[in-house]
This record gives sequence, C-alpha cells and structure tokens, in this order.
Amino acid sequence: MVKKILKWTGLVLGAFLVILCLAYAYVSYDIGQRMEKKYTFAPERLDVAQDQALLSRGKHLVAIKGCTDCHGPDLAGKVMIEDRALGRLVAANLTKGQGGLPAHYSTTDWVRALRHGVDPNGKALLFMPSHETTLLSAQDMAAIIAYCQSLAPVDKPLPASDLGPVVKVMAYLDKMPLLSVEKIDHGKPMVAQVDTVEGVAMGKYLAVSCSGCHGTNLQGGDPVAPGFPPVPNITRAGHVGKWTKVQFIQTLRTGKTPEGKQLSNENMPWKMTAQYTDKELASLYQYCQSIQ
Ligand code: HEC
Ligand code: HEC
Repeated sequence: MVKKILKWTGLVLGAFLVILCLAYAYVSYDIGQRMEKKYTFAPERLDVAQDQALLSRGKHLVAIKGCTDCHGPDLAGKVMIEDRALGRLVAANLTKGQGGLPAHYSTTDWVRALRHGVDPNGKALLFMPSHETTLLSAQDMAAIIAYCQSLAPVDKPLPASDLGPVVKVMAYLDKMPLLSVEKIDHGKPMVAQVDTVEGVAMGKYLAVSCSGCHGTNLQGGDPVAPGFPPVPNITRAGHVGKWTKVQFIQTLRTGKTPEGKQLSNENMPWKMTAQYTDKELASLYQYCQSIQ
C-alpha cells in the first residue's frame, strides 16, 4: 500500500515537473524572440548645444533620474546584479572609452535610445527605463545628452547581460520592465519644454521617476521584486497625506520618515531623491497631495 502511494506521488510530482519545465521553456523562448526583434523608427533630430546652462541642467537630471544609480557615478556602466536566479544585468558604459559607446554614436542614436528604447541596430535595450525617459521634454533630453556627450572617456569593458530564470518569468508576467520598447507609445511627440513654476504640473512631470515603483497613480502595491518590501501609497491617502511639506522634503533628503522609519536606499532610492531641489520636492509634495 505504502509502496503504491509512493509510486503515485512520484508520478504526479514527475508530471508536474515536466509541465513546469515545458512552461519555462516556452517563457524562455518567448522572451528570447522578443529580445531579438529588430525595430525601426524614423530618426529624430534634436539640437544639442554644449552651453554651460544646459550642461549643468544635464548633470542635475542625470542624478535625479537615477542614471548614475544604474550606470555608475561616472556613467561608465556597471554590473547591476549578478546571481543565479536573476542572472547578470549590466548597464552600459555611456562614455566613449573602451567598452563604451562607439565613436560614431550620434545625437540621433541618443534620442533613439531615450525615446524608443532601442540601440542603433534597432535591438531592444534591456532594463533601460526608456518608457520613462521617453516622457522627458525635448529640452531636458537635450540637456542630458549634452552632459553625457561631454563625459570624459572611461575605459571599462563590461560583460554582456545574461538573464536568469526569475527575470525571464517576471518579464513574461509583466512584473518587471525588461523591454521598455514594448511599453512606449512611439508616435507620441515630445513636448518642447515643461513648466518650471513650482506646483502640481511640475510635480506630475517629475513623478514619472516614482511611478516605476509607486505605480502610475502613486498608490503603491506589491514589492518590485521578490525580497523587497511592499511599495507604499504616497498620495494623500497614505502617510504623506498627514505630512507637512517640510516633513516630506526631509524624508526624501534623509530617508527618515516622520513616523521614525529609516528607509533603506536599496528599497527606496532616497539618495537619488535627496538630490532634487527644494522647488522640485515641493512640487512633488503638491502633486502627491493632489491625488485623492
Ligand atoms: C534601472 C537602471 C537604469 C537607469 C535608471 C538608466 N539606465 Fe540606461 N541602461 C540601463 C541598462 C541595463 C542598459 C543596457 C541595455 C542593453 O544593453 O540592452 C542601458 C542602456 C542605456 C543606453 C544605450 C546605449 C546603447 O547601447 O545604445 C543609453 C544611451 C542609456 N542607457 C542612457 C541612460 C540615461 C541618460 C539614463 C538617465 C536618464 C539612464 N540610462 C537610466 C539601465 C538603466
Ligand atoms: C526603486 C523603487 C522606488 C522608486 C523609484 C521610488 N520609490 Fe519611494 N519607496 C519605495 C519603497 C519600496 C518604499 C517603502 C520602503 C520601506 O518600506 O522600507 C518607498 C517609500 C517611499 C516613501 C515613504 C512612504 C511612507 O508611507 O512612509 C515616500 C514618501 C516615497 N517613497 C516617495 C517617493 C518619491 C516622491 C519618488 C520619486 C521621486 C519615489 N518614492 C521613488 C520604492 C521606490
């Protein structure tokens, strides 16, 4: 009797494993196909003047948009993650040193990457949040490009990304923005310039950088990946609704909330938000407060 039960349990488990393997093989094949797909977009021109005002705006944007978090403080790229479940995720060297962008990488190539999420060959950029950079104003995009083009070349060859099973499954289930090219409304024209007056409109524009984790309506939700904490609601319905502007700014500068919780930079990138100006943080506060 016991033998029989064991036999049947073994068979059921075996069948289950086979199904799991087949499902994973399918997921892996599907993601592979989507990664190999070639895209073509009409080249777009953007005037990028190398003047001082634009360069310092670019430097600020590169800090507050998290470019340096992924691409490293000198933007020479880095291996962001390397483990068995997630695989190896590598952010490109954005300088023109060894292992960096090719010498002929033009402004049009920059715009293609930031607007459409593909490289000069039309291949999807993996994990590059182009679904967010595509919403930058033309002026801000020009500032970022001008600054990046002015970077000193850093010789830093990097290995290629190699996706692990957890990343493939999460990307397949749309729980991870692996292929931003698929998320972008490619026909949407760039706005020339955005409002620089403190207020809700400016906050909304800036909150694009929060939406990747806090959600498009900033109402939070599930953890961004297994092992991370759930993402809080930062509209007036959450803690933020009870905070003053000064408390909000302090939280985003120090990572310490008025409730006394120290946020870890790994979960909530407050070292990035610390670099926003007062005006920018005040605008984000107003925008968060404006959402019911
Ligand atoms: C979440 C991490 C992350 C952030 C934030 C990020 N990048 Fe990237 N970026 C990547 C990764 C990873 C790649 C490599 C993609 C690949 O090789 O498929 C990449 C690729 C690129 C490329 C493409 C180079 C090429 O081969 O054509 C450019 C340009 C770029 N990033 C610029 C930026 C700029 C500018 C910012 C800030 C506005 C930024 N990135 C923010 C992760 C990031
Ligand atoms: C990489 C994901 C990520 C990004 C990007 C991000 N956050 Fe967060 N944020 C989190 C997580 C996760 C927590 C909760 C951390 C914890 O519980 O330890 C958090 C916590 C917070 C809190 C504290 C809320 C509370 O109830 O205590 C505020 C405020 C906040 N974030 C604002 C922002 C703003 C504003 C932006 C954009 C400028 C932003 N976050 C961008 C992931 C993110």
